Amino acid sequence: MKIAEMKEFLSKRLKEKRYKHSLGVAMTAGQLAKRYGVCVEKAEIAGLLHDCAREFTINEMIEQANKRQIFFSEIERHVPILLHAVLGADMLEESYGIKDLDIKQAIRFHTVGGANMSKLDKIIYLADMIEPGRDFPELAILRRRAEENLDQAMLLAFNQSMQFVLKKNSIIHPDTVLARNEILLKG
Ligand SMILES: [Fe+2]
Ligand SMILES: [Fe+2]
Repeated sequence: MKIAEMKEFLSKRLKEKRYKHSLGVAMTAGQLAKRYGVCVEKAEIAGLLHDCAREFTINEMIEQANKRQIFFSEIERHVPILLHAVLGADMLEESYGIKDLDIKQAIRFHTVGGANMSKLDKIIYLADMIEPGRDFPELAILRRRAEENLDQAMLLAFNQSMQFVLKKNSIIHPDTVLARNEILLKG
């Protein structure tokens, strides 16, 4: 499937606002890929499709995950919306003809991160947070950091999202902690 066809297909499946967000993530991911020497096409496709499963209802997400024999922990049971990442990755081939494992992994990791993230995974995680349609306090500094240093930008992104989760008294996913610690242990 060509990118234009993917866009057409996706635009029919997502609400306008989320489709626009997806275009923003694709564009930002492409720019970051160029900056950090990663395949621009893969970044654009992963960015475009990262939320392709985001508009299932909660019940549909659980149903789909069961149908696809996707294992999910107590945390996903508690916060089923997290499943859209792994579901999106699982649907890529049947819905969009994408077999590329790098793209699949980047989509799988885009919500909470994970251990051993590739450059592409980090780019998609960041692009999701900083695309032009986003607006939250401290976004400007994250955007600047993303242009300077990929790992330092990830550290800041994890810090910001963990602070957000803490303020809401919500659960911190252990994969986010793993990914964040990895950067600190390396540095
Ligand atoms: Fe998402
Ligand atoms: Fe997103």
